[in-house]
Amino acid sequence: MDALGQLGGQPIDVRSLTNTAVSNVICSIIVGKRFDYEDTYFAKLLELLNEQVRLMATSNLSNIFPWLHYVPGDTFQSKKRMENYHYIRTFFCVHHIEKTENEFDEDNKDNFISAYLAEMKKAERQGRETTLNKENLSRVLLNLFGAGSETTSTTMLWFMVYMLHYPHIQNKVYREIEDVVGTERVPAMQDRPRLNYTNAVIMETQRLASIVPVGVPHYTQTEATVMGYTVPAGTTVLSNLDTVLWDGDTWENPMDFRPERFLDDQGKITQPEQFMPFSIGRRLCLGESMARMELYLFLAALVQRFEFAPEVPDQLPLRVPLDGITSPPVKFKIRFVDRRST
Ligand code: HEM
Repeated sequence: MDALGQLGGQPIDVRSLTNTAVSNVICSIIVGKRFDYEDTYFAKLLELLNEQVRLMATSNLSNIFPWLHYVPGDTFQSKKRMENYHYIRTFFCVHHIEKTENEFDEDNKDNFISAYLAEMKKAERQGRETTLNKENLSRVLLNLFGAGSETTSTTMLWFMVYMLHYPHIQNKVYREIEDVVGTERVPAMQDRPRLNYTNAVIMETQRLASIVPVGVPHYTQTEATVMGYTVPAGTTVLSNLDTVLWDGDTWENPMDFRPERFLDDQGKITQPEQFMPFSIGRRLCLGESMARMELYLFLAALVQRFEFAPEVPDQLPLRVPLDGITSPPVKFKIRFVDRRST
């Protein structure tokens, strides 16, 4: 908020700021620290992570035919993907695991790595068979860092794009926050149940932006039968979340941005089971409740303090997604006009 306030309403491509702010939340949990916005090491990691998410597009043939990795050259950028993976793993995971291990204090488990190492050491001491090991820890860290950074930040960018397209909706969100919370303190979690319209706008953003369009690839371990079709063992399965989030039978005029679809006659949140931006089933998003908390806290605070305005009046950002395992909006600039100074 301070970083945006300091811009004095100048247009900005806000992607790296939202990315760093969001990523710092998961980093505080997993490595026990946040990083400065000027930290070049962290900026590089996030840049690589974003590139990685783009390279993981299902339209990239090497993600469908892994043997293309062995074709000379790097037409399909699978070698670049491996390079990025090793860089992030070495500089983020291995480094922080080593550092935590060197400073390890059994009585001070204040982050995920130290808690994991403590459990691992306990299992070793007890001679228990366990899957807790440093290789797995490094993979889990990479998953949490990867899944917990770009997704929430991408959803925030779409929210901004829609608010620029629909200023009357942005205004209504602001009025609700002003009524319920006021402007003397930032919106807190306790206010969430009373900020129904704000929550509906966030949910409609998630539905329409559908930022993880085909979920995360899964793999059948045994043969399965789905609606009469046989899916052999060893098949990669993608869940097309778009077809549900944009289904005309569930959502009237599904491509319209209409937050009211998540509100009942009393103005309270109502959520059809087809609302599944975090997927469904046993492997649904691990970070759903955290992501929903982050989206609400960040976005409500931003709307409370700033009016979002386009870079140039009447020139709105494109509502076009980039290709990748997630779909952020194409690059755009936005102005954050401080409501305190207007
Ligand atoms: C708006 C933000 C987010 C969206 C839309 C989102 C969406 C998803 C989706 C669609 C999946 C695939 C589920 C499946 O395979 O069926 C997933 C998996 C996952 N997400 Fe998220 N996610 C978000 C934020 C987060 C955050 C903040 C975290 C970290 C705490 C996180 C951690 C994970 C993990 C670890 C998985 C893999 C779960 C597993 O395979 O069991 N996500 N997410």
